[in-house]
Amino acid sequence: MKNILLTGGTGFIGSHIFIQLIKCGYYITIIDSNINSSEKVIKRISDMSELTPFFDIKKFKFYKGDIRNEILLNDIFLSAKEQNNEIDAVIHLAGLKAVRESKIKPLEYWESNVSGSIILFKVMQKFNCYNFIFSSSATIYSSDGTGFFDEDTIIKPINPYGNTKAAIEQILRDLFDSSPNLWRIACLRYFNPIGAHPSGNVCEDPKGIPNNIFPVLLKVASREIDCLEVFGNDWETPDGTGIRDYVHVLDIADGHIMVLKYLMKNPPKVLNLNLGTGVGKSVMELINTFEEVNQIKINYVFSNRREGDIPRSVANIDLAKKLIGWDPKNKLADMCKDGWRSKLNNQ
Ligand code: UD1
Repeated sequence: MKNILLTGGTGFIGSHIFIQLIKCGYYITIIDSNINSSEKVIKRISDMSELTPFFDIKKFKFYKGDIRNEILLNDIFLSAKEQNNEIDAVIHLAGLKAVRESKIKPLEYWESNVSGSIILFKVMQKFNCYNFIFSSSATIYSSDGTGFFDEDTIIKPINPYGNTKAAIEQILRDLFDSSPNLWRIACLRYFNPIGAHPSGNVCEDPKGIPNNIFPVLLKVASREIDCLEVFGNDWETPDGTGIRDYVHVLDIADGHIMVLKYLMKNPPKVLNLNLGTGVGKSVMELINTFEEVNQIKINYVFSNRREGDIPRSVANIDLAKKLIGWDPKNKLADMCKDGWRSKLNNQ
């Protein structure tokens, strides 16, 4: 069975991929600096009763550290090799991801996301590991069009965070072109992953004040924050609030496994793939659904539009459906229910 290196494996999306990898029986190696996550999630996941038949401590290794630490990365690959259990593929999620912060500290973003990725690619090359899945983002697309994005939409990010994602995708294309029969690469462009594993064992709990709507919504529901600011009710959308493509994080995690299997059985290529549901929901629809399924009142107030926002961002997921059989199962109600359950469980 293959050994998968998961960078950023204790974060929100990483920990859900971790769960699904365990279920599929993979050997799993995680590297995470824990600057925006906690190691505790590993114990919570390994203790999950539904994973008992699958989790084997001998098939798991955790390294606390930064991907910019080349010596550590080297040790990880070397030690796997010495145990005849080479790293076969890397799923790369480690990186900084707060848009507003990226505008204040661009160098930190370029250094952590881009330099970090380059170091990772160098070490992969050294150990002949050429299978790679990258956690990219719909934020790289040009927002000039209709708000429905397919994979051929022009790439034109508008903030340093998006620039670093686009730059890493470019490096991956250059790397592929340098030896076309070697690399199997997938750039997964996430839309808006929310929700949590239905067990309630894993929660999105960013350190500091959250930027994205769902963690803010959870904090308003738990009364840690008084009120949700709705950024604009004068957009050109049916109810005036912004429309996004919210997708359950567990469906996103499944997408990684499906892509991994697809890459392994197909010739080398670079694949760009949208991961969303193809269905847009407004901020008001999100709030109303959350209130309804959880029977909780959400305090909100309309405020000004947020800089850099667009009215609509919805994925065209035809390619993912066709190539990997992507079929996200969960609805907005599931995302709201599962997200709130995990918040209550992780107070
Ligand atoms: C944001 C980032 C995007 C990044 C993505 C994932 C901006 C402009 N965009 O996307 O680059 O890839 O997160 O990290 O920051 N909203 C509120 N109140 C809030 C927060 C959000 O009304 O407190 C609204 C937004 O205006 C938007 C929707 O909720 O209509 C979703 O916002 P968010 O979760 O931040 O995601 P994106 O805007 O899609």
